[in-house]
Amino acid sequence: MPVAAPKKSSRRRAEPELIFGDLWEFDPAPESADPKLQDRYRPFIGGKFVAPKSGKYFASINPGTGKPLAEIALASPQDVDTAYAAASKAFPAWSKLPGAERGKYLYRLARILQDRAREFAVAETMDGGKPIKESRDFDVPMAAAHFFYHAGWADKLAYAFPGANPQPHGVVGQVIPWNFPLLMLAWKIAPALATGNTVVLKPAETTSITALKFAEVVQEAGLPPGVVNIVTGAGETGAAVVNHPKAAKVAFTGSTDVGKLIMRSTAGTGKKLTLELGGKAANIVFEDAPLDQAVEGIVNGIFFNQGHVCCAGSRLLVQESVADAVLKRLRNRVSVLRVGNPLDKNTDIGAINSKEQLDKISGLVKAGIAEGAEMFQPKCSLPRNGYYFRPTLFSGVEQSHRIAREEIFGPVLSILTFRTQSEAVEKANNTAYGLSAGVWTEKGSRILKMSTALKAGVVWANTYNKFDPTSPFGGYKESGFGREGGKQGLADYVKLT
Ligand code: NAI
Ligand code: MG
Repeated sequence: MPVAAPKKSSRRRAEPELIFGDLWEFDPAPESADPKLQDRYRPFIGGKFVAPKSGKYFASINPGTGKPLAEIALASPQDVDTAYAAASKAFPAWSKLPGAERGKYLYRLARILQDRAREFAVAETMDGGKPIKESRDFDVPMAAAHFFYHAGWADKLAYAFPGANPQPHGVVGQVIPWNFPLLMLAWKIAPALATGNTVVLKPAETTSITALKFAEVVQEAGLPPGVVNIVTGAGETGAAVVNHPKAAKVAFTGSTDVGKLIMRSTAGTGKKLTLELGGKAANIVFEDAPLDQAVEGIVNGIFFNQGHVCCAGSRLLVQESVADAVLKRLRNRVSVLRVGNPLDKNTDIGAINSKEQLDKISGLVKAGIAEGAEMFQPKCSLPRNGYYFRPTLFSGVEQSHRIAREEIFGPVLSILTFRTQSEAVEKANNTAYGLSAGVWTEKGSRILKMSTALKAGVVWANTYNKFDPTSPFGGYKESGFGREGGKQGLADYVKLT
C-alpha cells in the first residue's frame, strides 16, 4: 500500500521489495445478512435517540471500500452532560433493584445479541474492517458471553466479596477503542450493570455503529431509561465523558498516550480509574516447542484482527537453534494468508481500520527498513480501494529498533532471537509495556518459571489470543492497571468496605 519505495541500504542481500501494483476490485457484499444500517445515528440518552445539540455529524467510513457507511452525531459536552443527568437519575432505582432482577436484563441483552448475531457481525465488519469470520465467530459471540457471564454474578455479589458489602460506584464514564468495538463495549457495560452502576459510554469515532445498534438492543430488552447512554464523537467528546464531575468511575481502553492524559486529568478528583492501554508482547518460542503448532500460534498472535490487538504477539523471540526453521515455516505460512474483502468468509486479513492507522503502520515499516531489519512480504495482491496492508515479517530486529519498541498495531511481526532462557526473559521484559506474553515449549516446569518471570498481565502457554469472560485481563507498567473479566474485573466496579 502507500509506502514510499525504500531507500537502498548497504545491508545484507537484495533490497526487500514492497509491492504496490496488481490491485483488484471485489464484489462489495458476498455476505448476505442485512446489517440493517441507518443513514444517520444519533446519541442514545435516557432511553431515546436524540438529536445532538451541536447539530453536527461526521462520516463513518467502511475501511474495506474507503466509502462512507453512515453519518454519526458529534456529541458536544452539553450532550455528554445530558447523558450524565439521565444516568444519575436512573442510578438510585437501578442500584436498588434486586441483583436477580438486574441479572434478568443482562440475560436478555445477551440473548438478543445472539438473535441478531449475523446482523451485528456484518455491521462490525463493514464499519471496522475485520474479517467476517472473526466478527461472526469471535467478537459477537464473545460479547454475548460477557453479558451471560455477568448476568450470573448480578445476584451473587455478596458471595463474590464476602463480608465486604459490595456497592456500586454510581455513574461510570467509559471510553473504548476501535479494534473490538462491540466486544469492548460488552467488557465495559456488562460488569458495570451487573454491579448496579449506570453508564455513559463513548465508542471510537471510526467504529460507532455497533454501539448504537446495541442501544437498539437496550431498548428491545426494556432496560429502564438512562441505565445505558451512548454518546458519539472523537477525543473532545471522550474528554468530556472522562472529566464530567458526575463520573464516579472512569474506565478507558485505548492508547497509552491518551491513558496518560486521563490519569493526569482524573488525579485528585476521587474518581476510581482503570486503564487498559497498549502492548508490545513477546511471543517466545523455545527449541523444544512443537514448531508447526508454534507457527500457527505466531500467525494467530500477530495477524488476528490485522494486528489491531493490544495483546498481539508483535515481538517474536525465537531460540537461535530453531530460528532459521521457524522463519522458513513462517514465510511459507504467511504467503498463503488471504488478504482482502473483509466480508468474504475466506479472508484472513481484512482492512486496516482507518487511513490514519494505515499511515502509522506504513511509517513504522519504513523505519524498520531504514534501521536495517530485513523485511519479508508475500506477493499477494490487494483490493484497489480501501485500506490494506500486506502481512509483514521483519527478521534481524534489534531491541533498539522502533519496530521492537513501539506498538505498531498492524500486521507486522518483529523477530528477535535469544540463546538462553534468562536472555529470553530479559528481552521479553525490556519494554515499557506489560500486557501479555506467549511461551511455546514442551516443558511444564519452564512454563511455570516463565509465567512468573514475565512481567505481563496474561501469559499464554502453547496457545495465543485465547479469551474467556471468566479470565481476568489487564496489564502492568504502561499497559495500564485494573482488570476486566473474572471476579477481579467485577471488583473494579464495586466499592468494598
Ligand atoms: P486513542 O487512544 O486516541 O483512541 C481510543 C479512544 O479514546 C477513542 O474512543 C477516542 O475517541 C478516545 N479519545 C481520544 N482522545 C481522548 C481524550 N483526550 N480523552 C478521552 N478520550 C479520548 O487511539 P487512536 O488514536 O485511535 O490510535 C492510536 C494508537 O493507539 C494505535 O495505533 C495503537 O497503537 C494505540 N491503540 C491501542 C489500543 C489498545 O487497545 N491498546 C486501542 C486503540 C489504539
Ligand atoms: Mg468505520
